[in-house]
Amino acid sequence: MADLFSKFDPVVELRESLLESGVTDPFNLVMERVESPTVAICNGRRTILLGTYNYMGMTFDPDVVAAGKTALDEFGSGTTGSRVLNGTYQGHKECEQALRDFYAMDHAMVFSTGYQANLGIISTIAGKDDYIILDIDSHASIYDGCALGNAQIVPFRHNDVEALDKRLKRLPPEAGKLVVLEGVYSMLGDVAPLREMVAAAKAAGAMVLVDEAHSMGFIGEHGRGVAEAQGVIDDVDFIIGTFSKSVGTVGGFCVSNHPKFEILRLVCRPYVFTASLPPSVVATAATSIRKLMDSADKRAHLWENSKRLHAGLRQLGFTLGTDEPQSAIIAVIMPDLETGAAMWEALLEEGLYVNLARPPATPAGMTLLRCSLCALHSEDQVGDILGMFAAAGRATGCIS
Ligand SMILES: Cc1ncc(COP(=O)(O)O)c(C=O)c1O
Repeated sequence: MADLFSKFDPVVELRESLLESGVTDPFNLVMERVESPTVAICNGRRTILLGTYNYMGMTFDPDVVAAGKTALDEFGSGTTGSRVLNGTYQGHKECEQALRDFYAMDHAMVFSTGYQANLGIISTIAGKDDYIILDIDSHASIYDGCALGNAQIVPFRHNDVEALDKRLKRLPPEAGKLVVLEGVYSMLGDVAPLREMVAAAKAAGAMVLVDEAHSMGFIGEHGRGVAEAQGVIDDVDFIIGTFSKSVGTVGGFCVSNHPKFEILRLVCRPYVFTASLPPSVVATAATSIRKLMDSADKRAHLWENSKRLHAGLRQLGFTLGTDEPQSAIIAVIMPDLETGAAMWEALLEEGLYVNLARPPATPAGMTLLRCSLCALHSEDQVGDILGMFAAAGRATGCIS
Protein backbone atom coordinates (compact mmCIF):
# COMPACT_ATOMS: atom_id res chain seq x y z
CA MET A 1 0.00 0.00 0.00
CA ALA A 2 1.44 3.38 -0.96
CA ASP A 3 1.58 5.70 2.04
CA LEU A 4 -0.28 8.84 1.03
CA PHE A 5 1.77 10.75 3.60
CA SER A 6 5.11 10.07 1.89
CA LYS A 7 4.74 13.30 -0.10
CA PHE A 8 5.18 15.20 3.18
CA ASP A 9 8.55 13.58 3.99
CA PRO A 10 10.65 16.63 3.03
CA VAL A 11 8.61 18.84 5.40
CA VAL A 12 8.80 16.21 8.18
CA GLU A 13 12.59 16.07 7.78
CA LEU A 14 12.97 19.85 7.74
CA ARG A 15 10.90 20.16 10.91
CA GLU A 16 12.80 17.35 12.68
CA SER A 17 16.20 18.78 11.82
CA LEU A 18 15.11 22.21 13.07
CA LEU A 19 13.84 20.82 16.38
CA GLU A 20 16.96 18.62 16.79
CA SER A 21 18.99 21.83 16.96
CA GLY A 22 17.22 22.39 20.30
CA VAL A 23 15.28 25.49 19.22
CA THR A 24 11.70 26.06 20.53
CA ASP A 25 9.17 25.09 17.84
CA PRO A 26 8.38 28.46 16.24
CA PHE A 27 5.12 27.15 14.76
CA ASN A 28 3.62 25.84 17.98
CA LEU A 29 3.58 28.78 20.38
CA VAL A 30 0.68 29.11 22.82
CA MET A 31 -0.69 32.46 23.96
CA GLU A 32 -1.49 31.44 27.54
CA ARG A 33 -3.23 34.73 28.31
CA VAL A 34 -3.82 37.81 26.21
CA GLU A 35 -3.81 41.06 28.19
CA SER A 36 -4.31 43.55 25.36
CA PRO A 37 -3.71 43.91 21.60
CA THR A 38 0.00 44.38 22.32
CA VAL A 39 0.77 42.13 25.32
CA ALA A 40 0.30 38.40 26.01
CA ILE A 41 1.70 35.77 28.36
CA CYS A 42 3.77 33.19 26.44
CA ASN A 43 5.75 30.44 28.21
CA GLY A 44 4.79 32.17 31.49
CA ARG A 45 6.46 35.41 30.41
CA ARG A 46 4.97 38.82 29.63
CA THR A 47 5.56 39.26 25.91
CA ILE A 48 5.14 42.24 23.58
CA LEU A 49 3.19 41.18 20.50
CA LEU A 50 4.81 42.31 17.25
CA GLY A 51 3.54 39.50 15.05
CA THR A 52 -0.24 39.86 14.99
CA TYR A 53 -2.43 41.47 12.32
CA ASN A 54 -4.17 43.53 14.97
CA TYR A 55 -3.08 46.71 13.14
CA MET A 56 -5.72 48.99 14.64
CA GLY A 57 -5.88 47.30 18.05
CA MET A 58 -9.64 46.68 17.93
CA THR A 59 -9.74 43.28 19.70
CA PHE A 60 -10.21 44.75 23.18
CA ASP A 61 -12.14 47.88 22.19
CA PRO A 62 -14.90 48.15 24.85
CA ASP A 63 -17.65 48.95 22.29
CA VAL A 64 -16.61 46.05 20.08
CA VAL A 65 -16.52 43.59 22.99
CA ALA A 66 -19.89 44.85 24.31
CA ALA A 67 -21.53 44.44 20.88
CA GLY A 68 -20.32 40.84 20.72
CA LYS A 69 -21.63 40.05 24.22
CA THR A 70 -25.05 41.55 23.50
CA ALA A 71 -25.38 39.60 20.24
CA LEU A 72 -24.33 36.39 21.98
CA ASP A 73 -27.06 36.91 24.59
CA GLU A 74 -29.74 37.96 22.13
CA PHE A 75 -29.07 35.71 19.13
CA GLY A 76 -27.18 32.72 20.54
CA SER A 77 -23.82 31.20 19.75
CA GLY A 78 -24.21 30.37 16.06
CA THR A 79 -26.53 30.40 13.05
CA THR A 80 -26.21 26.70 12.12
CA GLY A 81 -26.91 27.51 8.49
CA SER A 82 -25.90 29.01 5.17
CA ARG A 83 -26.46 32.67 4.33
CA VAL A 84 -28.94 31.59 1.63
CA LEU A 85 -31.04 29.47 4.01
CA ASN A 86 -31.45 30.18 7.73
CA GLY A 87 -28.05 31.86 8.27
CA THR A 88 -28.79 35.51 7.44
CA TYR A 89 -29.57 37.34 10.70
CA GLN A 90 -30.16 41.04 11.17
CA GLY A 91 -26.49 41.30 12.25
CA HIS A 92 -25.21 40.04 8.88
CA LYS A 93 -27.24 42.72 7.10
CA GLU A 94 -25.95 45.40 9.52
CA CYS A 95 -22.40 44.23 8.96
CA GLU A 96 -22.81 44.47 5.18
CA GLN A 97 -24.33 47.95 5.61
CA ALA A 98 -21.30 48.99 7.70
CA LEU A 99 -19.04 47.84 4.86
CA ARG A 100 -21.08 49.70 2.23
CA ASP A 101 -20.82 52.84 4.35
CA PHE A 102 -17.11 52.34 5.05
CA TYR A 103 -16.22 51.99 1.35
CA ALA A 104 -19.06 54.18 -0.01
CA MET A 105 -19.92 51.36 -2.40
CA ASP A 106 -23.22 49.84 -3.54
CA HIS A 107 -22.70 46.20 -2.61
CA ALA A 108 -21.04 44.20 0.17
CA MET A 109 -21.01 40.45 0.67
CA VAL A 110 -19.70 38.91 3.90
CA PHE A 111 -17.97 35.53 3.81
CA SER A 112 -16.94 33.29 6.70
CA THR A 113 -13.23 34.13 6.14
CA GLY A 114 -11.11 36.29 3.85
CA TYR A 115 -9.69 33.07 2.45
CA GLN A 116 -13.19 32.07 1.36
CA ALA A 117 -13.88 35.53 -0.07
CA ASN A 118 -10.94 35.15 -2.47
CA LEU A 119 -11.77 31.52 -3.12
CA GLY A 120 -15.40 32.35 -3.90
CA ILE A 121 -15.16 35.59 -5.84
CA ILE A 122 -12.19 34.62 -8.02
CA SER A 123 -13.41 31.11 -8.87
CA THR A 124 -16.93 32.33 -9.61
CA ILE A 125 -16.35 35.43 -11.73
CA ALA A 126 -13.47 34.06 -13.86
CA GLY A 127 -14.69 30.96 -15.70
CA LYS A 128 -13.64 28.78 -18.61
CA ASP A 129 -12.16 30.82 -21.50
CA ASP A 130 -11.47 33.78 -19.15
CA TYR A 131 -8.00 34.84 -18.00
CA ILE A 132 -6.74 35.68 -14.51
CA ILE A 133 -3.62 37.83 -14.60
CA LEU A 134 -2.02 37.85 -11.17
CA ASP A 135 1.11 38.98 -9.33
CA ILE A 136 3.35 35.95 -8.79
CA ASP A 137 3.64 36.76 -5.05
CA SER A 138 -0.14 36.58 -4.53
CA HIS A 139 -1.54 35.15 -1.29
CA ALA A 140 -2.37 31.42 -1.14
CA SER A 141 -6.11 32.18 -1.05
CA ILE A 142 -5.81 33.93 -4.44
CA TYR A 143 -3.98 30.96 -5.93
CA ASP A 144 -6.52 28.59 -4.42
CA GLY A 145 -9.35 30.68 -5.90
CA CYS A 146 -7.68 30.28 -9.28
CA ALA A 147 -7.30 26.52 -8.74
CA LEU A 148 -10.99 26.17 -7.85
CA GLY A 149 -12.11 27.89 -11.07
CA ASN A 150 -11.50 27.04 -14.70
CA ALA A 151 -9.86 30.22 -15.98
CA GLN A 152 -6.41 30.36 -17.56
CA ILE A 153 -3.79 31.69 -15.13
CA VAL A 154 -1.23 34.24 -16.30
CA PRO A 155 1.27 35.23 -13.58
CA PHE A 156 3.55 38.26 -13.87
CA ARG A 157 6.64 39.39 -11.98
CA HIS A 158 5.98 40.91 -8.56
CA ASN A 159 4.91 44.58 -8.69
CA ASP A 160 6.23 44.90 -12.28
CA VAL A 161 3.90 47.21 -14.26
CA GLU A 162 5.66 46.52 -17.56
CA ALA A 163 5.38 42.75 -17.11
CA LEU A 164 1.64 43.10 -16.38
CA ASP A 165 1.16 45.30 -19.44
CA LYS A 166 3.05 42.86 -21.67
CA ARG A 167 0.98 39.88 -20.50
CA LEU A 168 -2.28 41.80 -21.01
CA LYS A 169 -1.33 42.80 -24.54
CA ARG A 170 -0.64 39.18 -25.50
CA LEU A 171 -4.17 38.02 -24.56
CA PRO A 172 -7.09 37.91 -27.03
CA PRO A 173 -8.67 41.38 -26.91
CA GLU A 174 -12.22 40.02 -26.68
CA ALA A 175 -11.50 37.52 -23.86
CA GLY A 176 -12.77 38.06 -20.29
CA LYS A 177 -9.87 39.17 -18.09
CA LEU A 178 -9.52 39.66 -14.34
CA VAL A 179 -6.38 41.33 -12.97
CA VAL A 180 -5.82 40.32 -9.34
CA LEU A 181 -3.62 42.52 -7.15
CA GLU A 182 -2.96 43.13 -3.46
CA GLY A 183 -2.67 46.56 -1.85
CA VAL A 184 0.06 45.51 0.59
CA TYR A 185 2.00 42.28 0.07
CA SER A 186 2.15 40.71 3.49
CA MET A 187 5.54 39.04 3.42
CA LEU A 188 7.76 42.07 2.71
CA GLY A 189 5.17 44.72 3.57
CA ASP A 190 5.58 46.42 0.19
CA VAL A 191 2.80 48.31 -1.57
CA ALA A 192 1.61 47.71 -5.16
CA PRO A 193 1.86 50.48 -7.78
CA LEU A 194 -1.91 50.30 -8.15
CA ARG A 195 -2.28 53.57 -10.04
CA GLU A 196 -0.19 52.31 -12.97
CA MET A 197 -1.45 48.74 -12.77
CA VAL A 198 -5.14 49.64 -12.70
CA ALA A 199 -4.56 51.97 -15.69
CA ALA A 200 -2.87 49.14 -17.64
CA ALA A 201 -5.70 46.74 -16.76
CA LYS A 202 -8.41 49.19 -17.81
CA ALA A 203 -6.62 49.99 -21.08
CA ALA A 204 -6.71 46.26 -21.86
CA GLY A 205 -10.41 45.95 -21.01
CA ALA A 206 -9.77 43.89 -17.87
CA MET A 207 -11.71 43.94 -14.61
CA VAL A 208 -9.63 44.53 -11.47
CA LEU A 209 -9.80 42.88 -8.06
CA VAL A 210 -7.65 44.24 -5.22
CA ASP A 211 -7.14 42.34 -1.99
CA GLU A 212 -6.74 45.01 0.71
CA ALA A 213 -6.37 42.54 3.62
CA HIS A 214 -3.31 44.30 5.05
CA SER A 215 -4.27 47.88 4.24
CA MET A 216 -7.93 48.18 5.22
CA GLY A 217 -8.38 50.37 8.28
CA PHE A 218 -4.87 51.82 8.09
CA ILE A 219 -3.88 53.03 4.62
CA GLY A 220 -5.79 55.79 2.79
CA GLU A 221 -7.53 58.87 4.17
CA HIS A 222 -10.58 56.86 5.29
CA GLY A 223 -8.68 53.62 5.78
CA ARG A 224 -10.10 52.13 2.58
CA GLY A 225 -6.70 50.88 1.51
CA VAL A 226 -4.00 51.41 -1.08
CA ALA A 227 -6.55 51.90 -3.90
CA GLU A 228 -7.89 54.90 -1.96
CA ALA A 229 -4.40 56.22 -1.13
CA GLN A 230 -3.38 56.08 -4.82
CA GLY A 231 -6.66 57.61 -6.05
CA VAL A 232 -7.92 54.62 -8.07
CA ILE A 233 -10.63 53.17 -5.85
CA ASP A 234 -13.37 54.16 -8.34
CA ASP A 235 -11.65 52.14 -11.08
CA VAL A 236 -11.36 48.96 -9.02
CA ASP A 237 -14.19 46.50 -9.70
CA PHE A 238 -13.88 44.34 -6.57
CA ILE A 239 -12.19 44.92 -3.22
CA ILE A 240 -11.57 41.87 -1.06
CA GLY A 241 -10.90 42.22 2.64
CA THR A 242 -10.86 40.38 5.91
CA PHE A 243 -12.11 40.92 9.45
CA SER A 244 -9.10 39.00 10.81
CA LYS A 245 -6.68 41.93 10.66
CA SER A 246 -7.59 45.59 11.34
CA VAL A 247 -11.22 44.73 12.13
CA GLY A 248 -10.03 42.40 14.90
CA THR A 249 -12.29 39.35 14.58
CA VAL A 250 -12.81 36.75 11.84
CA GLY A 251 -14.61 36.86 8.49
CA GLY A 252 -14.09 38.13 4.97
CA PHE A 253 -15.83 40.32 2.44
CA CYS A 254 -16.07 41.66 -1.07
CA VAL A 255 -17.36 45.16 -1.91
CA SER A 256 -18.21 46.36 -5.40
CA ASN A 257 -20.28 48.78 -7.47
CA HIS A 258 -21.00 46.21 -10.18
CA PRO A 259 -24.75 46.41 -10.95
CA LYS A 260 -25.16 42.61 -11.11
CA PHE A 261 -23.07 41.91 -7.99
CA GLU A 262 -25.94 40.54 -5.87
CA ILE A 263 -26.34 37.48 -8.12
CA LEU A 264 -23.10 36.17 -6.61
CA ARG A 265 -25.05 35.26 -3.46
CA LEU A 266 -26.70 32.46 -5.44
CA VAL A 267 -23.82 31.21 -7.58
CA CYS A 268 -20.72 31.52 -5.38
CA ARG A 269 -20.12 28.10 -3.82
CA PRO A 270 -17.82 29.15 -0.92
CA TYR A 271 -20.62 31.57 0.11
CA VAL A 272 -23.54 29.17 -0.33
CA PHE A 273 -22.14 25.86 0.92
CA THR A 274 -20.88 26.87 4.35
CA ALA A 275 -22.40 28.14 7.59
CA SER A 276 -22.57 31.90 8.12
CA LEU A 277 -20.58 33.74 10.78
CA PRO A 278 -21.91 33.65 14.38
CA PRO A 279 -24.04 36.68 15.43
CA SER A 280 -21.41 37.79 17.98
CA VAL A 281 -18.76 37.91 15.24
CA VAL A 282 -20.77 40.02 12.80
CA ALA A 283 -21.80 42.34 15.65
CA THR A 284 -18.15 42.89 16.67
CA ALA A 285 -17.16 43.34 13.01
CA ALA A 286 -19.89 45.92 12.30
CA THR A 287 -19.02 47.93 15.42
CA SER A 288 -15.31 47.80 14.65
CA ILE A 289 -15.77 48.82 10.99
CA ARG A 290 -17.86 51.84 12.02
CA LYS A 291 -15.22 52.89 14.56
CA LEU A 292 -12.46 52.49 11.94
CA MET A 293 -14.17 55.16 9.82
CA ASP A 294 -13.29 57.64 12.49
CA SER A 295 -9.74 56.60 13.41
CA ALA A 296 -7.47 59.15 11.73
CA ASP A 297 -5.46 59.66 14.94
CA LYS A 298 -4.78 55.95 15.29
CA ARG A 299 -3.75 55.74 11.64
CA ALA A 300 -1.29 58.61 12.17
CA HIS A 301 0.18 56.95 15.30
CA LEU A 302 0.57 53.63 13.46
CA TRP A 303 2.54 55.40 10.71
CA GLU A 304 4.78 56.93 13.38
CA ASN A 305 5.39 53.50 14.90
CA SER A 306 6.14 51.98 11.52
CA LYS A 307 8.62 54.73 10.58
CA ARG A 308 10.37 54.58 13.94
CA LEU A 309 10.77 50.79 13.95
CA HIS A 310 11.98 50.74 10.34
CA ALA A 311 14.60 53.42 10.97
CA GLY A 312 15.70 51.85 14.28
CA LEU A 313 16.12 48.34 12.87
CA ARG A 314 18.05 49.68 9.92
CA GLN A 315 20.32 51.64 12.20
CA LEU A 316 21.02 48.47 14.18
CA GLY A 317 22.27 46.85 10.97
CA PHE A 318 19.38 44.55 10.01
CA THR A 319 18.46 44.00 6.35
CA LEU A 320 14.82 44.95 5.77
CA GLY A 321 12.29 43.98 3.10
CA THR A 322 11.70 47.55 1.93
CA ASP A 323 13.97 50.62 1.72
CA GLU A 324 11.27 52.79 3.26
CA PRO A 325 8.38 51.84 5.55
CA GLN A 326 5.38 51.30 3.24
CA SER A 327 2.86 49.66 5.59
CA ALA A 328 2.52 48.34 9.16
CA ILE A 329 4.60 45.28 8.21
CA ILE A 330 8.37 45.44 8.50
CA ALA A 331 10.19 42.31 7.38
CA VAL A 332 13.67 41.55 8.72
CA ILE A 333 15.51 39.31 6.25
CA MET A 334 17.41 36.40 7.84
CA PRO A 335 20.26 34.57 6.06
CA ASP A 336 18.70 31.09 6.55
CA LEU A 337 16.03 29.18 8.48
CA GLU A 338 18.40 28.09 11.29
CA THR A 339 19.56 31.65 12.00
CA GLY A 340 15.98 32.89 11.65
CA ALA A 341 14.72 30.32 14.18
CA ALA A 342 17.58 31.14 16.60
CA MET A 343 16.82 34.85 16.35
CA TRP A 344 13.08 34.21 16.74
CA GLU A 345 13.78 32.25 19.94
CA ALA A 346 16.22 34.85 21.28
CA LEU A 347 13.58 37.54 20.77
CA LEU A 348 10.98 35.42 22.55
CA GLU A 349 13.36 35.02 25.49
CA GLU A 350 13.76 38.80 25.54
CA GLY A 351 9.95 39.06 25.73
CA LEU A 352 9.05 39.82 22.09
CA TYR A 353 6.91 37.80 19.69
CA VAL A 354 7.37 38.21 15.92
CA ASN A 355 6.33 35.95 13.03
CA LEU A 356 8.91 33.58 11.60
CA ALA A 357 8.04 33.14 7.93
CA ARG A 358 9.63 30.77 5.47
CA PRO A 359 8.93 29.25 2.03
CA PRO A 360 6.45 28.53 0.51
CA ALA A 361 4.78 31.56 2.15
CA THR A 362 7.77 33.83 1.45
CA PRO A 363 9.08 34.97 -1.96
CA ALA A 364 12.49 33.92 -3.35
CA GLY A 365 13.06 31.25 -0.67
CA MET A 366 13.54 33.90 2.03
CA THR A 367 13.39 33.39 5.80
CA LEU A 368 11.83 36.45 7.41
CA LEU A 369 11.15 37.79 10.87
CA ARG A 370 7.96 39.65 10.15
CA CYS A 371 7.12 42.51 12.46
CA SER A 372 3.61 43.91 12.28
CA LEU A 373 2.88 47.00 14.28
CA CYS A 374 -0.27 47.98 16.10
CA ALA A 375 -1.76 51.46 16.49
CA LEU A 376 -1.78 50.75 20.25
CA HIS A 377 1.97 50.08 20.56
CA SER A 378 3.18 52.93 22.75
CA GLU A 379 6.33 54.92 22.10
CA ASP A 380 7.92 53.12 25.06
CA GLN A 381 7.02 49.73 23.63
CA VAL A 382 8.64 50.60 20.28
CA GLY A 383 11.76 51.65 22.20
CA ASP A 384 11.71 48.35 24.16
CA ILE A 385 11.26 46.40 20.89
CA LEU A 386 14.38 48.01 19.40
CA GLY A 387 16.34 47.18 22.56
CA MET A 388 15.24 43.55 22.32
CA PHE A 389 16.27 43.35 18.65
CA ALA A 390 19.68 44.78 19.54
CA ALA A 391 20.24 42.22 22.34
CA ALA A 392 18.92 39.19 20.39
CA GLY A 393 20.75 40.27 17.21
CA ARG A 394 24.08 40.44 19.04
CA ALA A 395 23.48 37.18 20.96
CA THR A 396 22.82 35.26 17.71
CA GLY A 397 25.51 37.00 15.66
CA CYS A 398 22.97 38.55 13.25
CA ILE A 399 24.44 42.00 13.93
CA SER A 400 27.75 43.05 15.44
C1 LIG B 1 -3.58 38.99 1.34
C2 LIG B 1 -4.49 38.11 2.13
N1 LIG B 1 -5.69 37.80 1.65
C3 LIG B 1 -6.54 37.01 2.34
C4 LIG B 1 -6.20 36.50 3.56
C5 LIG B 1 -7.17 35.58 4.28
O1 LIG B 1 -7.76 36.20 5.35
P1 LIG B 1 -8.53 35.38 6.48
O2 LIG B 1 -7.62 35.28 7.65
O3 LIG B 1 -9.74 36.19 6.78
O4 LIG B 1 -8.90 34.04 5.92
C6 LIG B 1 -4.98 36.80 4.11
C7 LIG B 1 -4.61 36.26 5.44
O5 LIG B 1 -3.52 36.20 5.88
C8 LIG B 1 -4.08 37.63 3.38
O6 LIG B 1 -2.87 37.92 3.86
